[in-house]
Amino acid sequence: MTEPKAILTIPGQPPIDLPIRKGTLGQDVIDIGPLGQHEHFSFDPGFTVTASCESKITYIDGDQGILLHRGYPIEELAEKSDYLETCYLLLDGNLPNAQQKAEFENIITTHTMVNRSVEQFLSGFRYDSHPMAMMCGVVGALSSFYHDSLDIADPQHRMITAHRLIAKMPTLAAMCYKHYIGQPYMYPRNELKYAENFLNMMFGTPCANRPVSPVLARAMDLLFLLHADHEQNASTSTVRLAGSSGANPFSCIAAGIAALWGPSHGGANQAVLEMLAEIGDEKHIDTFIRRAKDKNDPFRLMGFGHRVYKNFDPRAKVMKQACDNVLAELGIDNDPLLRIAKRLEQIALEDDYFVDKKLYPNVDFYSGIIMKAIGIPTEMFTVIFATGRTVGWIAHWNEMISNSYRIGRPRQLYTGERQRSITPIEQRG
Ligand code: CMC
Repeated sequence: MTEPKAILTIPGQPPIDLPIRKGTLGQDVIDIGPLGQHEHFSFDPGFTVTASCESKITYIDGDQGILLHRGYPIEELAEKSDYLETCYLLLDGNLPNAQQKAEFENIITTHTMVNRSVEQFLSGFRYDSHPMAMMCGVVGALSSFYHDSLDIADPQHRMITAHRLIAKMPTLAAMCYKHYIGQPYMYPRNELKYAENFLNMMFGTPCANRPVSPVLARAMDLLFLLHADHEQNASTSTVRLAGSSGANPFSCIAAGIAALWGPSHGGANQAVLEMLAEIGDEKHIDTFIRRAKDKNDPFRLMGFGHRVYKNFDPRAKVMKQACDNVLAELGIDNDPLLRIAKRLEQIALEDDYFVDKKLYPNVDFYSGIIMKAIGIPTEMFTVIFATGRTVGWIAHWNEMISNSYRIGRPRQLYTGERQRSITPIEQRG
């Protein structure tokens, strides 16, 4: 059977055959590689129709609202798995058996401490630094501690780094928060589960031994799980691009954290809560909806819309359910911001503008609300996203490095000045 191909005709040139490649799921892809032998290349700002790589980790069908990690639907993972098991799945390709799971949990638990110098490093940040600013710096700085495992060509080194990152991110995240609020750091405790340990480091103090609520620990674990990976989003693509130059994994993850911070990406969860506070009262919602629809107003409804999902974000569905459970269990159903959020969601789901443009609530809309209910301050929202996403970043980085790869080097359509000569300064107008 002949391989399927697309034929591109450029005036004055012989037709160019472009192979059509098929994945296991999803749309076919036109391989534009042969264009490189001709005098043209493609133009696709924002990568809206460009696959940047081949991957076996995560699949999204944005029209159907499907998200699979290594073939498993996110809804099923959320119900029957937990964050660390999902980490194992993303890294390894398969779910662990009971022994593998116990070993993995033990490895992660026993790598949660960070070098004491990290405390000194953090003390150099201004007392009110945004925790994401500290995270970008401190995660990048980890490369200065682990010279023993920075050979990216060695699969063993890559796996040790993955374990270290997954284990230390909650510790670092909580340390950034403690620095931000001026409290002593809390050390990790090996008898606690991953999410429970994180909440203890966030909210515990050396003076009081307050057990973490199992409801909140489960919600936290779910938050990490729902953020674990999302194929080639901006931050993951950043990690891959940084990694394609051969940079060390800690600096690649730091680059991913920086990319995540923007309000169009992971920064949206903080922006949602800020927006709800700005709306302030249900009676102002119509004004904000009007602003969101006004082309001349840069305001957007934060937590709505997605590049890939033109249907409900499946993570948002799980998150909404979890959100309702957490709020009910905590007895919080009369919070003014939550009332605004619920009303906003209802209006946006019925309004023609949002319906026509398929702008559904995304994961950040509900995650902010859950995190607020758990008592997490808004400045930490994106840090928590980064903590959960670290496994996705490192799994993609590892997948790229394990296969043949080239440095990522996009081209451009140049629209600047043609070549010109320098006029002596005294003759310039
Ligand atoms: N409020 C109002 N209008 C919107 C919104 C919104 N939240 N999102 C998109 N639109 C409009 C946009 O103005 C455009 O209209 P038109 O076709 O008339 O020019 C149309 O919908 C398509 O939008 P786009 O900006 O071309 O779409 P995109 O794929 O480039 O952007 C997005 C996707 C998520 C950045 C965008 O929907 C957005 O800014 N949403 C708010 C921020 C947000 O919630 N981000 C979190 C994303 S999910 C988690 C994550 O990835 O981190």
